[in-house]
Amino acid sequence: MSERKTVRLDLAEHSQNLEFDSGCTSLLECLEYNKFSVSYQCREGYCGACRVKITEGQVVYNQEPLAFVREGEVLLCCCKPDGNITLTLE
Ligand code: FES
Repeated sequence: MSERKTVRLDLAEHSQNLEFDSGCTSLLECLEYNKFSVSYQCREGYCGACRVKITEGQVVYNQEPLAFVREGEVLLCCCKPDGNITLTLE
């Protein structure tokens, strides 16, 4: 049985919970699958365009990103949730 991971999104207007599908290769793919419009360019951890705030939980990177990531931020294109997380999308 696979472990369910919930991605909670704090949006400007409201909050929403999504389930991270284990078939998704990244948080970016999960959000796109759920029809969220998020910024991106390279989709490989180089540019930083997909940077968002994480307020709860942790992620695991598919490979170490080259773009700079500050404490409390994640790059959506190259990571997956490590348990339940909360992201703030602006
Ligand atoms: S889209 Fe370039 S780092 Fe994520």
